[in-house]
Amino acid sequence: MRKKYIVGIAAVAAATALALSGCSTGRTTSGSGSSSSTSIPKGSLIGVALPAKTSQNWVLAGQDFQSSITKAGFKADIQYADNNTPVPSQQAEINSMITKGAKAIIIGAADGSQLGTQVAQAKKQGITVIAWDRNILNTKNVDYYVAFNNFHVGELQAQALLDGLKKEKGSGPYNVELFAGSPDDANATVFFNGAMSVLKPKIADGTLKVVSGQTTFQKVNTQGWLAQNAQKRMTDLITANYAKGTKLDGVLSPNDTLARAILQATKSAGLANPVVTGQDSETDSIPLIMNGTQYSTIYKDTTLEANAAVDLVSTLSKGGKPKTVNDKTNNYNGTITVPAVELTPVLVTKDNAVAAYKNDPTLEKLATAGQ
Ligand code: BGC
Repeated sequence: MRKKYIVGIAAVAAATALALSGCSTGRTTSGSGSSSSTSIPKGSLIGVALPAKTSQNWVLAGQDFQSSITKAGFKADIQYADNNTPVPSQQAEINSMITKGAKAIIIGAADGSQLGTQVAQAKKQGITVIAWDRNILNTKNVDYYVAFNNFHVGELQAQALLDGLKKEKGSGPYNVELFAGSPDDANATVFFNGAMSVLKPKIADGTLKVVSGQTTFQKVNTQGWLAQNAQKRMTDLITANYAKGTKLDGVLSPNDTLARAILQATKSAGLANPVVTGQDSETDSIPLIMNGTQYSTIYKDTTLEANAAVDLVSTLSKGGKPKTVNDKTNNYNGTITVPAVELTPVLVTKDNAVAAYKNDPTLEKLATAGQ
């Protein structure tokens, strides 16, 4: 359950982007994932290594894992990567979980391309390695991946942008700008590729005009998922492209933290409110959605996602075989397609917010209050 808290916005170190492109459309289901090497007896230690708190979902994740691991009868060791040194601090935390004798390690990677050595070491010790929310790249040493369908998140964001433009900005063509997440987060390219699969044809047929001409991930990413980086880029885009009365109709934003930063920049520049997408259903964004400032968000129930990983551990602990899918578009890590437990994201706008949040009292209350 979602509690009141303050979101810690953290800096994430610069790192090189790894192109985890949605390179295949192949999607097949399989009965079971790879089996873990050792047993996970009840009462054993389960490590959870999370990235820095770059958005509210990561704050919730720590709380959810603590309660669900304990409830399932295991001991939890939950660690967050340090704001300023996310990669080395997370590497050290995983090493320490291995030393403490963890039987399974659940990892939300700070940088999915920087954990090859740590997961190899874990596998050597017979530890079950589960990538959580973000995949771990370029290694065969990941047993499972538990996440929402990230490519679909991007598709939903792009469709929301198109729907919002039609609804709020009359008939096209529309002037838009594109934003993506941080290059060190493997999800960021998957979200963007999903969105571009919907937007590219609309750019090609002239429905959408990206006035800045910036349409590649390399040009539109937001280092560290940091609000100030998105706000600065939006301000620069306005100065260069929208200062002389050119209308800005919409902005593809990959999450709520960046959506609010983008809206801050357009407001400061005195532009009319553009249609802006989001993700995460952050408590600061729900009132903005209800009053029409932010057009959409995505609901990814963090409790459900944490429970899915802990259920997987429980199944392995009982000697069972978890049900997984082989979804290359979402879960190919550069070396293998990691057997995945894949959850379905939900698009939320003002129109369906109250219903979409019916299992989340905090969000439902915010949505109801804004009606
Ligand atoms: C998560 C998003 C989140 C972003 C920034 C991603 O990996 O899937 O929900 O907005 O990280 O923290």
